[in-house]
Amino acid sequence: MKTCIIYFTFSGNNEMLAKDLVEDIGADLFQILEPKKRGMFRIMLDMLFNRFPKINDLTIDLEGYAHIFLIAPIWNYQIAHPMKTFIRNNKQHLKNYSFITLCSGRDTQKEKIADQLEKLVNHKPKVIIELETRMIITPEQESKGAYKVTSEDLRKFKQEEGYQMLLNHYLTEEELS
Ligand SMILES: Cc1cc2nc3c(=O)[nH]c(=O)nc-3n(C[C@H](O)[C@H](O)[C@H](O)COP(=O)(O)O)c2cc1C
Repeated sequence: MKTCIIYFTFSGNNEMLAKDLVEDIGADLFQILEPKKRGMFRIMLDMLFNRFPKINDLTIDLEGYAHIFLIAPIWNYQIAHPMKTFIRNNKQHLKNYSFITLCSGRDTQKEKIADQLEKLVNHKPKVIIELETRMIITPEQESKGAYKVTSEDLRKFKQEEGYQMLLNHYLTEEELS
């Protein structure tokens, strides 16, 4: 089964996850990059005005993939805006897709992510997986702000039920549910 992973990262966590998943399932990997260097100020403006920032062209034949994984952080309950731009620009090719995020985690967030994806693509993803750092770090670590995941953290995340099911699917070719 030909699969690709398309990711966006600001501070590296979701890149680490994407590269790890590539090793596990053997997919093609593509990174969403922006023409302008991003800082916290631009994140704030994107969040405030719900913008779709410009991204660099990515020439991928999405129709050639049976399954497309989108991986990106969450910013104030929203899928990181450069990923939203990618989704909006390519929605007609996202027939069989899933969304994974390595984020800090907030209650009721998964439903909000599902709503955004459904609005952007016009149909639901196969799977949404939230890997939440709040589940594996101490309140003290959390209070220090942006947390940088380690390979040990990633190992813990990989025990998460939904993620395990996803990996098993690629090992056993079972249908994702
Ligand atoms: C401005 C900002 C807002 C954020 N808002 C959320 C949020 O609403 N929900 C959440 O789970 N994580 C939130 N996060 C945490 C990021 O999703 C998390 O740190 C993620 O792992 C960063 O991914 P990256 O290193 O790939 O950029 C926020 C981070 C930033 C910088």
